[in-house]
Amino acid sequence: MIYLDYVATTPLNPQVYETYTKLLKDKFANADSMYDLGLEVELLMEKSRLLTAKMLGVEKDELIFTSGASEANNMAIKGTALQYWHRGKHVITSCIEHSSVYESFKELERVFGFEVTYLPVDQHGLIHLEDLKQALKEETILVSLMYVNNEVGTVFPIEEVKKIIKQYPKIKLHVDMVQALGKIPISLEDVDLASFSAHKIEGLKGSGLLYKKRNCQLVPLISGGQQEQGLRGGTSNACTNIVFAKTLRLALENFEMKQQHVKTFYLYLKDLIQQNITCATINTPDHDLSYHIMNVSLVGYKPEVIVHDLEKKGIYISTRSACSSKQNEVSRVLKMMHLSEEVASSAIRISLSSLTTKEEIEIFVRELQDSLTNLKKKRTT
Ligand SMILES: Cc1ncc(COP(=O)(O)O)c(C=O)c1O
Repeated sequence: MIYLDYVATTPLNPQVYETYTKLLKDKFANADSMYDLGLEVELLMEKSRLLTAKMLGVEKDELIFTSGASEANNMAIKGTALQYWHRGKHVITSCIEHSSVYESFKELERVFGFEVTYLPVDQHGLIHLEDLKQALKEETILVSLMYVNNEVGTVFPIEEVKKIIKQYPKIKLHVDMVQALGKIPISLEDVDLASFSAHKIEGLKGSGLLYKKRNCQLVPLISGGQQEQGLRGGTSNACTNIVFAKTLRLALENFEMKQQHVKTFYLYLKDLIQQNITCATINTPDHDLSYHIMNVSLVGYKPEVIVHDLEKKGIYISTRSACSSKQNEVSRVLKMMHLSEEVASSAIRISLSSLTTKEEIEIFVRELQDSLTNLKKKRTT
């Protein structure tokens, strides 16, 4: 099997698996129970929170364990909007966010009557800081932008965004850092809220994290118990939360080496595609990119057909974000990048990790070329 869809999810790190299965068996008590079994689980969970906070350079009480980044994004966006709406009902995001962000804003607009500015992007999938500056107004209370786009791999200028938002103390800045964590260096300085997901860094599915600065208040979306500072009622998913720190530690281990590995193979893949696949147009820009995602259009071919043909050969890639893969229309992200209909409707997404090998890249390009030749033949006979 050749897996080149690491953006959708990653295989579980064997060390995480081993610890997790042991925990499931031994540490089953409710973290909120008063007796020693429960206390032990709570202590392990709090230790994981502390270690995670140290790795992210923040305080322990600024981290909230969630069921994933979709929940963290919903919590940050709706929680902030409902908390601070009396200060103003204008919020800002971009038009190429992950669906969990995009749909949260749509809901704020539709259900709660907020005014939402969706910042446009250029043909590289980049926002322009001038557009952000122009969108800010007296009533703005929240700006939410992603760090790395999950379909094209473009990196937004978050450090520049921080400098702008810092001048507006009333505005909270939320950053969806899901595709940045473990891929590019990140800093939570001058960020009010940030979302993370474990299964994108060889961790468990159903495991995420919301960073929330101490001075930032949220209206809870799941009211109930005292868990997670009262922001997320319900018995803690303790074993999952306990392995978060280990997952992150392993993901950040040899960070620069892994980053270089991915970059080297990205450039190799790009070279092979450009040399061998004549119908290919690479939509990922040459600048401001993370190097772990390549979006390529194969003009004249249906991406689903290519994905399934490669699947028969044991090669796994995707057409777009897994969360939107069941929709038939052209990707919202590519549409917003003003790509022509034929380019936007023929895109595939290849994503790499430090587990990717040279041989996998070579086989992939060879098999892709073979699939395209066969599909073309089928069409003409
Ligand atoms: C940029 C981005 N944000 C949020 C998410 C949602 O993460 P989760 O699967 O943990 O809910 C994803 C997952 O694809 C993503 O790529």
